[in-house]
Amino acid sequence: MSVIYDPIHWTPHKRLYDRLMLAFVAGYLILFGGLQLVFHPQITAETLTIRATGTLAFLMLHVILCIGPLCRLDRRFLPLLYNRRHLGVTMFMVALTHGVFNLVQFHALGNADPLVSLFTSNTQFGSLVRFPFQSLGFFALIMLFLMAATSHDFWLKNLTPPVWKALHMGVYVAYAMLVMHVMLGVIQLEKSPVLIGLTGAGVVAVLGLHLAAAVKQARTDGGARRYAAKGIPDGFVYACDVADIPENRAKMLIIGGENIALFKYDDKLSAIHNLCKHQNGPLSEGKIIDGCITCPWHGYQYLPENGQSPPPFHEQVCTYDVQVAGTKVYVNPTPYPEGTARPPARITLATL
Ligand code: HEM
Ligand code: FES
Repeated sequence: MSVIYDPIHWTPHKRLYDRLMLAFVAGYLILFGGLQLVFHPQITAETLTIRATGTLAFLMLHVILCIGPLCRLDRRFLPLLYNRRHLGVTMFMVALTHGVFNLVQFHALGNADPLVSLFTSNTQFGSLVRFPFQSLGFFALIMLFLMAATSHDFWLKNLTPPVWKALHMGVYVAYAMLVMHVMLGVIQLEKSPVLIGLTGAGVVAVLGLHLAAAVKQARTDGGARRYAAKGIPDGFVYACDVADIPENRAKMLIIGGENIALFKYDDKLSAIHNLCKHQNGPLSEGKIIDGCITCPWHGYQYLPENGQSPPPFHEQVCTYDVQVAGTKVYVNPTPYPEGTARPPARITLATL
């Protein structure tokens, strides 16, 4: 918890993740470059850079878009979610390299300004097949820039979470533009249809995973509601058994699209939003120390009953209602505004 914005603290998780990511980036560039040199020995360094960075950024964007649904399908993918911002910023840097090299290679050698040239060299905006595909890449790059530039928590807080989230949902618009950018580029430049096939496979993977996650979510919510016990009001969803949560620890739940940490402590149960305000650390992997939920990454703290950091700190997360019936715990996934006090559910002798 803090009253100022801390610089990024590197945890062992983040270091490992970043190393793996950079190893993947380097491995891809070496492999792609090697294969291009074997099959196209005449290729220039500029064209090689354009192709390697364009395909790498596009591949990374697919990975980024698949992480959300993968986590909803299997929680073992969650570490990828906690570190997704670094992947996004790195992807933007790679895409920027591709865009800049293209502007220099194709638009900087004439009399016109490169950006003017980008939009005037092909003006067939009315044609579907001849549409200026480079302008689609340009607008997508601008959107990726806005997301990378606002990825810091400073912007999350100052734009407010709903505005920030809406802005970052723009990644799907950028993705659609990039699919068209690549498809039309291949058609207009009469290049290998392999890229069209791979792009099609990527679109199927992204859409398929989102669909599978939505179906699983609907089944989990529906199933959980069917099991709701007598006396538990509508809207509550079965979460787990009391015994499933160790003392002073939590269980992570994804219910109704909400990422929730359900804590057990002092014969009580409270639920708060799972993501820490500092850098999205997983609060459900932390424990209760001195009465406060303590983030496992850098130790920010929150009170379980109201999701507020203890004074003098100001961080707040959303809270949720919890109920116990017999040994079963139910959570209502409708979030209360950040920092709202909610009475914890009591674990009584009758419960156990
Ligand atoms: C200012 C922005 C951009 C411009 C001017 C631009 C321009 C181009 C051009 C001219 C090509 C054809 C290159 C060639 O093969 O000769 C191309 C291909 C491609 N672009 Fe972009 N692009 C931009 C942004 C992006 C972004 C943001 C991405 C992905 C994140 C992207 C992904 C690709 C891919 C995957 C290809 C196919 C690679 C290949 O040629 O083998 N582009 N782009
Ligand atoms: S992410 Fe840094 S303290 Fe939680």
